[in-house]
Amino acid sequence: MRRRLMAAVAVSVAGLLSLSACGSGDEQASGSSQAAQKKVEVFSWWTGPGEADGLQAMRKIFETNNKNFTFFDAAVAGGSGDQARALLSSKLQANQPPDTFQGHAGAELQGYIKSGKLESLNFLFDELKLKDVMPQQLIDQISVQGQVYSVPVNIHRSNMLWFNPAVVKEAGISAPPKTIDEFIADLEKVKKAGKIPISIGSQWTLVHLLESVLCGSLGTDAYNQLWTANADWSGPAMTKALENFKTILGYAGTPQDDWQPAAKQVADGEAAYNIMGDWAFGYFRNPAPGGIGKTSHKDFEWAASPGTDGTFMWLSDSFTLPKGAPNRDGAVAWLKVAASKEGQDAFNPLKGSIPSRTDVDKSLYKDYLAWDLDQWAKDKLAGSIQHGVVVNDAWRTAITDAVGLFQQDKDVAKFQQALVSAAKSSGQ
Ligand code: BGC
Repeated sequence: MRRRLMAAVAVSVAGLLSLSACGSGDEQASGSSQAAQKKVEVFSWWTGPGEADGLQAMRKIFETNNKNFTFFDAAVAGGSGDQARALLSSKLQANQPPDTFQGHAGAELQGYIKSGKLESLNFLFDELKLKDVMPQQLIDQISVQGQVYSVPVNIHRSNMLWFNPAVVKEAGISAPPKTIDEFIADLEKVKKAGKIPISIGSQWTLVHLLESVLCGSLGTDAYNQLWTANADWSGPAMTKALENFKTILGYAGTPQDDWQPAAKQVADGEAAYNIMGDWAFGYFRNPAPGGIGKTSHKDFEWAASPGTDGTFMWLSDSFTLPKGAPNRDGAVAWLKVAASKEGQDAFNPLKGSIPSRTDVDKSLYKDYLAWDLDQWAKDKLAGSIQHGVVVNDAWRTAITDAVGLFQQDKDVAKFQQALVSAAKSSGQ
């Protein structure tokens, strides 16, 4: 697996390392060497609209509580860490870690742990008594042999259908589609009404779409089995699920640069549907410039992605302490903010996520987020592919490559074969 991981980042390491942080990052903020010692480099991909607001809210708390440290925003633009994750791998391989970085709980993080890149955070979990306030199933996803390796700051939901109420009404659709077949019928109605049936963004958004279509087509139990020894990637149920994916893609608009412009097509009434994680809620709802200031139930509406009602496809952003972090104390100070009630309650309502802590102020989670909290409490769980829960980086890269080829040739048999091979050689 390690060999595959290295292959996945075989892009010129030197080239990648020379990429500077971008977007709202602090790359311009170089200071004296004394300031440089005190700076805490926080690596994430939260630069764009709908992403940066939450980070800035936590930053404010960090700066208030830690006058001796300077927050250095090393965010790298690109939804779902499209650019950031490759750059991070290169930095870690070159033993040039940031002080702390955003990593997804689950298989993605396990990859970093197994390759010896992270310090155990048991000392912090003990000091802050975090095991008492976070769900055990989440702790399991960030642990290896009793050692915990990251601080989860949130829970996001991936299997969300966002839609424009006026556009679907105009197309004669009165309720959100409950099944994949209903969804396909509704996409056809929107097409006839002259709007874009489903908007899509860059390539990773198709992997995101695929995970919802797989779960909605196969059912949650069969989806969850895909990551076990009993996985069935080659059978007829998978073929049918991939055919569904092909049909749905046939209704997609022109691919947009990233997830935000695709989501915006829905809010602006150009497109009917978009399947995207609930960071879209922060983007829709937050006032400009952090978001587009739209109103729920009027400009946008939501439902579980078709066929997945009652299932919460989850993911969690977490922060780590890399071995050799130049400012270890500063990183620990950041982790304390990410772990705190105050930090999570400032971050999550803006980010469009719910807290990983169970003891937060629930009254702050309104609108979509109140629905989300309720679903999290009662739904069955499934893990996200694109956002690191069920597959490591090497496997995700292989799936992404297969999706990219499929987008060109639309050959279901070849696609299925590529997914079978990706699962076989994942080494997970
Ligand atoms: C991250 C989210 C982020 C989304 C879009 C996901 O992988 O977990 O925090 O909002 O990507 O960039």
